[in-house]
Amino acid sequence: MSDQRGQFSSKIGFLMAATGSAVGLGNIWGFPTQAASNGGGAFLLAYLVLAFLLAYPALVAELVIGRHARANIVTALDTLGENRATKGLGRAVGYYGVLVASLILSFYAIVAGWMLAEFGKPLAQLLGWQGAADWLASDALGRNLLVCGLFTAATVAIIAKGVENGIEAWSTRLMPLLFLILLGLILYVFTQPGAGEGLKNYLIPDFTQLTDPGLLLSAMGQAFFSLSLGVGTMLIYGSYLRKTDSLPRLGAAVTLLDTGIAFTAGLLILPTMYVAQAQGIAIYSEGGDLLAGPGLIFQVLPALFSTMGGAGIWLSIAFFALMSIAALTSSISMLEAPVSVVTERTRLKRTGAAWTIGLLIFAVSTIILLNMSTLFDAAVSLTTEYSQPLLGIALCVFVGWIMRRNQLLNELKAGHRDIEHSLFWKIWPFYVRLVCPVLILLAFIQSLR
Ligand code: PHE
Repeated sequence: MSDQRGQFSSKIGFLMAATGSAVGLGNIWGFPTQAASNGGGAFLLAYLVLAFLLAYPALVAELVIGRHARANIVTALDTLGENRATKGLGRAVGYYGVLVASLILSFYAIVAGWMLAEFGKPLAQLLGWQGAADWLASDALGRNLLVCGLFTAATVAIIAKGVENGIEAWSTRLMPLLFLILLGLILYVFTQPGAGEGLKNYLIPDFTQLTDPGLLLSAMGQAFFSLSLGVGTMLIYGSYLRKTDSLPRLGAAVTLLDTGIAFTAGLLILPTMYVAQAQGIAIYSEGGDLLAGPGLIFQVLPALFSTMGGAGIWLSIAFFALMSIAALTSSISMLEAPVSVVTERTRLKRTGAAWTIGLLIFAVSTIILLNMSTLFDAAVSLTTEYSQPLLGIALCVFVGWIMRRNQLLNELKAGHRDIEHSLFWKIWPFYVRLVCPVLILLAFIQSLR
């Protein structure tokens, strides 16, 4: 079986795919607005520290499990277990992980669909199809179903093509494009009145907010979500890596790129909001908080673009292309988690598995869309606030307590000869064994209060 498994053709291929998974709506939308409303530079600092001290070790743990077992999360955790109890626990954690990945995809595809609609709207205007543009701007159920379905179908089509021709090929095409659009937009926005004000708000730290436990908690949640941890996506990408690649180095590169792009996205979003304010658009809610979430992306930005005439149309195409690309390279990694479990554990082939699971996920998206006010937030907090940290703990426990130390060392050594004498090997095993689970647990308990 292992001969038929997909594999990334190069380090760059893996880096693009894993960074593509990590960089998503969480970076470009979630991070900047959270930073702006939580002490600016202080949040940034907390986020960077947590990303490297907590999320990075957990990311390497997932990569190690995946590449060691060369299998999906369910099979991998099952084989790590040494008796019936730990094997059963492994399978349960694995199934729970891919269920969470699928549920994340079902609400992520709804939001990504909105991005697609906003991308299509200016295109329709350019073509003179005002009716279509108005429909795309509406909140009709039909429109939401169509764009969500289109996005899910694009995700499935890529995953059906497999690791090298699907995931790797599309991530290597889309990620450089994402970066270029991001830089282009930043350069443009910096020339507009009001941008400097936004930069100040983003970068000048308000350290008094660092004492707020809520801030640390949101920074941790953000770091876990942003590195796609706990749900088997990084684990399965790790399983497609060659034995000769160094996991600590690649993990560090992914963490750096992910945090770097989140930081860079802040250089776009905050200045853009203050440019909008300079145009007379409200960017604070009635309670005095900076608008975040859907209010920002789907009200402030379109309002700003419409004050900019011809340039506004192109800006809005570029901006929502950026969002759609970021979402797509993340959604394929979410779908790969359950698809790899099904193809490796049943006789179903990749194409059939991808379309079947995609259809099921779309059915769940439809149910959420029909009950937006009750189900949407519930799905988000069930997965990202409750499940992801707990699964993160479980995976650290598997690496720290169930995998044997020489298994770990051999796996790391394969791509990193001198690892035994490195600082990484002195710190990391202890970290995943104790520090990560305890800190995540403490933060989790705190969040339940
Ligand atoms: N990391 C992605 C983002 O920042 C979200 C994600 C979560 C992707 C879990 C895969 C798995 O948007």
